[in-house]
Amino acid sequence: MNNIIAVAGPKGGVGKSTICANLAIAFAELGKKVIAVDLDFGASNLHAILGVAEFTYNLTDFFQNRITKLTHATSDTNIKNLKIIRWGDIPGIANIMYQKKVKLIRHLLALDSDIIILDLAPGVSYNVLDFSLIAKSLLLVTTPELPSLMNTYSFIKAAVFRKLLFFFKRSKSFELLELLEKTKNFEKYPLKTMEDFFSEAQKLNPALSDSARATIANLRPLIIVNRIRAENDKRAGKVIQRMLKVYLSIESPLVMTIREDVSVANALAKMKPVLLYAPDSPFSLDIKKVALEIDRMG
Ligand SMILES: Nc1ncnc2c1ncn2[C@@H]1O[C@H](COP(=O)(O)OP(=O)(O)O)[C@@H](O)[C@H]1O
Ligand SMILES: [Mg+2]
Repeated sequence: MNNIIAVAGPKGGVGKSTICANLAIAFAELGKKVIAVDLDFGASNLHAILGVAEFTYNLTDFFQNRITKLTHATSDTNIKNLKIIRWGDIPGIANIMYQKKVKLIRHLLALDSDIIILDLAPGVSYNVLDFSLIAKSLLLVTTPELPSLMNTYSFIKAAVFRKLLFFFKRSKSFELLELLEKTKNFEKYPLKTMEDFFSEAQKLNPALSDSARATIANLRPLIIVNRIRAENDKRAGKVIQRMLKVYLSIESPLVMTIREDVSVANALAKMKPVLLYAPDSPFSLDIKKVALEIDRMG
């Protein structure tokens, strides 16, 4: 059973880690066993947001084989039901080797917990895409501004292409791989959308084109628009939802919003998670709503 929720968003500073940490607490408060995993190898801060200081082992120990199981890297927090796995302190190994990543993914899928929630790095690196693609639920965090929305669109586009690349490689379909490569630059090629790609692929290999379409249909990102300041900002979610549908044939079944809130900075200054520091603040109320909606989706 896959219980992984990946919190992704191509831009740094949009609120991924803050949302990941507090969402983890919200799920724990709903009575679920939760493990929050810091996979932002470049700038790990999940433990700081959760206010956890004591660690025995971490992911670096796992990668360097000082521990054999990922479970050994989990640490308790002072929140009931919530454990954390943190990235280590060794700088300069933000780029993990492919084999290590495959091993980590295998162990993540085998962790025993109701929910595993991943805090991912910004960008569209293969690592980030691969951790996003293994998740049962992919949460895309964006702010309402256009550049952030464009980044979010590019992120899903990259994820779609990576998923199809693996799919066609596995099926050894060289003609579809070639077509995929040509389609990468929508702008410079007559194919303007994924729909155009699938129609063209249909002519080359109908059966494979259909199963590729089905593979992509599994990618159903949930969108979180963070730092909402005005009613108008809420439209951003609909804009990105529509872009994903029209250009990438991707359905995003849920758009959620989280308000801009000074409690976030205040809690950080007190080294406490917002949900505990200000449980009735707009941010906390919105996070709890997000947790309930995700839970309802199953
Ligand atoms: N809803 C919000 N209201 C106010 N500040 C926020 C909100 N969400 C995030 N922040 C602030 O934005 C900054 C970046 O958040 P962070 O979670 O570290 O982003 P990311 O992990 O995407 O890089 C932090 O200073 C955080 O406190
Ligand atoms: Mg972060």
